[in-house]
Amino acid sequence: MAWLNIGQSFITNLMMAGAMIFTVWGWSRGQFTPGDVVLVNSLLMQLFRPLDMLGWVYRSIRQGLIDMEAMFSLLDTPAEVIDKPGAPALEVKRGNVRFEGVHFGYEPEREILKGIDLDIPAGSSLAVVGPSGAGKSTLARLMYRFYDPTAGRILIDGQPIADVAQRSLRSSIGIVPQDTVLFNDTIGYNIAYGRGQASTEDIEQAAKGAAIDDFVKALPQGYESMVGERGLKLSGGEKQRVAIARTLLKNPPILVLDEATSALDSRTEQAIQETLERIARNRTTIIIAHRLSTVVGADRIAVLENGKVAELGTHEELLDKGGLYADLWYRQAAERVLEDAAEAAE
Ligand SMILES: Nc1ncnc2c1ncn2[C@@H]1O[C@H](COP(=O)(O)OP(=O)(O)O)[C@@H](O)[C@H]1O
Ligand SMILES: [Mg+2]
Repeated sequence: MAWLNIGQSFITNLMMAGAMIFTVWGWSRGQFTPGDVVLVNSLLMQLFRPLDMLGWVYRSIRQGLIDMEAMFSLLDTPAEVIDKPGAPALEVKRGNVRFEGVHFGYEPEREILKGIDLDIPAGSSLAVVGPSGAGKSTLARLMYRFYDPTAGRILIDGQPIADVAQRSLRSSIGIVPQDTVLFNDTIGYNIAYGRGQASTEDIEQAAKGAAIDDFVKALPQGYESMVGERGLKLSGGEKQRVAIARTLLKNPPILVLDEATSALDSRTEQAIQETLERIARNRTTIIIAHRLSTVVGADRIAVLENGKVAELGTHEELLDKGGLYADLWYRQAAERVLEDAAEAAE
């Protein structure tokens, strides 16, 4: 581009100079009138201006083609999970969820889930606990069909989720994810994203349920405050509460809470826990948690270890069993006592 510009101006200026010298020379010999000198000058100017433009146009066109190619290659990326042709919509009548021998690995050589069998009766809650990396969030991702299991299947009210339209599946499940991603827009917009046409009242109601109402009202711009790229202007706990408000607004028949309160302090957690328990009532709920105190109330608890369900039962049953769960429970109970003491000291 630099050489082009230099070359172009060199040629045009040289021509201009030559033409001017020639016409002035002709005028001095009485061959040309002053009008001829002006004529030649303006003709050349008219010619060179578009030539200058040409270089610039050439560059813009090339840049445009490159950008277009990048966009088309993105559009042409095949989706890994696609609907079967003519897939019917999922019909949730009661909300029974079943995992049948589900195997899954992100890479073929490393299997994360090695045969998961779980049955969550309609309207009941199942807590999934286990060490970090056990595959708890993976269960939620499979339910939402971000991936398909390598073997086995997942059924909702008897319908394999691989056979129904993804849109209908995703509209029936509400997930409060472990790490919330927000759009670079206002808080109000981000909460309203849970449901298409939510009124301001609905949004405020959901915000109240998620205990974020007071925080938003205290902001200078209230619900019109921008949250920044991916929500970076909010703290982890605030983002998590926006995600909870979003799900409250969506009001889905099946609910998945993936460590939904992990970034909150224990007092805020308690405040939200009540709301979560209220919306989980009479709704099929999967609660993923590492803090066991939040899952005591679940109808059943599954302990996930090494890609398998190691233990399954109610809180009392698992404590009596004296296995992995009991071990975790007593360890966390001891930690809680220490934390409380530290808080009291403060
Ligand atoms: N997109 C991915 N690609 C490859 N491996 C992944 C991916 N997501 C998660 N994993 C691996 O899968 C395992 C289970 O992850 P996850 O379900 O998120 O665990 P957790 O039980 O803590 O929620 C982890 O060991 C993690 O490294
Ligand atoms: Mg997780």
